[in-house]
Amino acid sequence: MSKKVDNQSFNIPIITTQLDLETELYRYPAENTFILTDENTAALLPDLIKTISKLQNAVTIEIPSGEANKTINTCLNIWQKLSNNQVNKKALIINLGGGVITDLGGFVASTYKRGIDFLNIPTTLLAMTDAAIGGKTGVDLDNFKNQVGMISSPIGIYYDSNFLSTLPKNELISGFAEVLKHGLVKSKSYWEKCTNISFDDLNWEDVILGSVEIKCAVVKRDPYEKGERKLLNFGHTIGHAIETFMMNQSTPIMHGEAVAIGIICESYISTKIAKLSKAELEEITTNISKLFPKIELKKSTFLTLIELMRNDKKNISNEINFSLLDSIGKGIYDQNCSEEMIIEALSYYTER
Ligand SMILES: NC(=O)c1ccc[n+]([C@@H]2O[C@H](COP(=O)([O-])OP(=O)(O)OC[C@H]3O[C@@H](n4cnc5c(N)ncnc54)[C@H](O)[C@@H]3O)[C@@H](O)[C@H]2O)c1
Ligand SMILES: [Zn+2]
Repeated sequence: MSKKVDNQSFNIPIITTQLDLETELYRYPAENTFILTDENTAALLPDLIKTISKLQNAVTIEIPSGEANKTINTCLNIWQKLSNNQVNKKALIINLGGGVITDLGGFVASTYKRGIDFLNIPTTLLAMTDAAIGGKTGVDLDNFKNQVGMISSPIGIYYDSNFLSTLPKNELISGFAEVLKHGLVKSKSYWEKCTNISFDDLNWEDVILGSVEIKCAVVKRDPYEKGERKLLNFGHTIGHAIETFMMNQSTPIMHGEAVAIGIICESYISTKIAKLSKAELEEITTNISKLFPKIELKKSTFLTLIELMRNDKKNISNEINFSLLDSIGKGIYDQNCSEEMIIEALSYYTER
């Protein structure tokens, strides 16, 4: 990447140049450096090794791609590989991949011998702008996403927007839902920058850096999600319920598609119990709908969705907790709303 993020003020080790990455890697012997990939991100390795010579003798560990493999069994295989090879506490794991690799690899590293270093090299838009930053690591358990895990920070996050050139377009669009969310909760100017231009003309380097700055700033102020970090759950209360519901129906949709619906519905609620204007709701709905075609949700599913929202691990009591918008660029958190309001919001989405 040609531009730099102001890491001083965020205290999160963002690495944007090959030189800085090489310098970081020199602290670890090659035989103690492991690169975790899946079969798709393994294909990115030869080019990376060409430019980062320190990686030439690193040991690669490949796992099968996809959320279905973000499990404790996959961790077990990796822990056993490390243990059988007598890997010691001074090792480094480099997570080269999307959010599945950075979540799982971060967890494996943070628990092996009570914690070895790890470095994230995110290769999807979602991982670059969201999953690789903020220290949440972990795996799924049965049908529960991220049920087992811990907060643990990488020694660095290396950015190269060129990885996006091989990413399938549907993955790129899915990740863009999180980008738009960052603008909506924190920065009107960033939202405008991302929406005032057609998707195919976006400058990805700028988009990534904008999101990284927003997420780093929030996470630095509230790493354990006691307050402000909850803003980043905007669109996710309803989004997660829809994602889980569709998965249970064996008609899975992408995370970003579910979040996009969540953003529309939760923006609607924001006009009712927060200060978002109707004009802003219209602006949000129009922009989201341009990229995320409508997904059919029958009225008969709404109560099941509400039940799923009640079970969300973000809720402490039986109440359903929302992050909402007072305006574009200004999120608020810890908002409760009635079942009737949630049904009204789902109807707003389905009846448009
Ligand atoms: N820790 C957090 O704060 C946080 C935040 C958001 C999401 N997540 C987690 O992130 C995960 C989703 O991440 P994701 O969307 O990146 O999914 P993913 O890691 O499954 O990647 C999506 C697909 O793209 C492939 N891929 C990755 N990079 C590629 C590239 N450059 N070129 C071609 N193919 C490539 C992968 O192999 C995979 O098939 C979920 O498990 C979610 O829970 C974590
Ligand atoms: Zn998300």
